[in-house]
Amino acid sequence: MIDLSTSYMGLKLKNPIVASSSYLWQDPKNIKKADKSGAAAVVLHSLFEEQLEIEQEELNKFLLQGTESYAEALTYFPEIKEFKFAPDEYIELINEVKADSEIPIIGSLNGVSDGGWIKYAQKIEEAGADALELNIYYIPTDTSATSGEIEENYYNLVKSIKQKIRIPLAVKLSPYFSSTPNVLNNIEKSGADAFVIFNRFYQPDIDIKNLEITPNLVLSTSEELRLRLRWAAIMYGKIKSDIAITGGVHTGTDVIKSIMAGAKVSMMTSALIKNGIGHIEKVLSETTEWLSKNDYDSIKSIQGIMSQKNVLEPSAYERANYMKTLGSYK
Ligand SMILES: Cc1cc2nc3c(=O)[nH]c(=O)nc-3n(C[C@H](O)[C@H](O)[C@H](O)COP(=O)(O)O)c2cc1C
Repeated sequence: MIDLSTSYMGLKLKNPIVASSSYLWQDPKNIKKADKSGAAAVVLHSLFEEQLEIEQEELNKFLLQGTESYAEALTYFPEIKEFKFAPDEYIELINEVKADSEIPIIGSLNGVSDGGWIKYAQKIEEAGADALELNIYYIPTDTSATSGEIEENYYNLVKSIKQKIRIPLAVKLSPYFSSTPNVLNNIEKSGADAFVIFNRFYQPDIDIKNLEITPNLVLSTSEELRLRLRWAAIMYGKIKSDIAITGGVHTGTDVIKSIMAGAKVSMMTSALIKNGIGHIEKVLSETTEWLSKNDYDSIKSIQGIMSQKNVLEPSAYERANYMKTLGSYK
């Protein structure tokens, strides 16, 4: 028997596969399906700052920097009605799925400012969520905002949310920092128990016929995993917080790579949208098969074995690998 059990920010999980945040989990039947297919935990879709009671000034400060006018900027905001779930319904959903599910349920908040909306962290906890994931999705456009100021806002937001809850807090981030290790270290000091790396920023496209900016959501492929592997491998052992990889996990091989790099769990969304929720079962059996064939008796035994601190050539994760990679292309 291969032991797939692991832990993630203090939660005991039966295996390292977590269904990441998306609309799929707005339907409790899908959560049941994920549970049956073997998911170790589910991260619910996010409650967005824009949906919640907004302290408008705070939000404006973040979102409207660099835009020409408030009215124009508002046209890019999501319409509240596009979201099926009002905040109260979200809280009810947690109540409902917690009563009927064996696996941990992680709530999700998505925002940038340290405003009144963060009281929902507490409501998510009270509704029974086992943990909270905070997705900070921020695109700076103001030429006078320094990276230090922006990062300080991240730390303050994490501190404020942490003060409101006792359940574990994961922070989902983008890869676009000058010093990812320093930012992770400071967010950990601000109270994060885990990091979810990395957010995919959905890049807008330009419709050249109608001269419009069009949203363009493309699902991931396994190629995207590499960026995550590099940073999980570099951060493993440098921070105490657990690492979850999101972005490009589609197969058992992707799960094995994620854990070897240093992640505690691998998260999936695109693969489940493409192949159906039952795909979790296939990925789990591929993971188990690989471990068995290669004489490992547990997922824990491969944890971090390919992290920067454990590989023979640590520079492979650094700049030194750049010339070698370019030279290897024939
Ligand atoms: C349709 C769709 C909806 C998503 N909704 C959310 C969300 O509400 N909150 C969030 O934090 N991430 C959301 N995500 C991001 C996923 O949780 C995940 O981090 C990302 O898709 C990368 O993983 P993947 O390669 O497995 O898709 C969404 C992704 C997709 C494709």
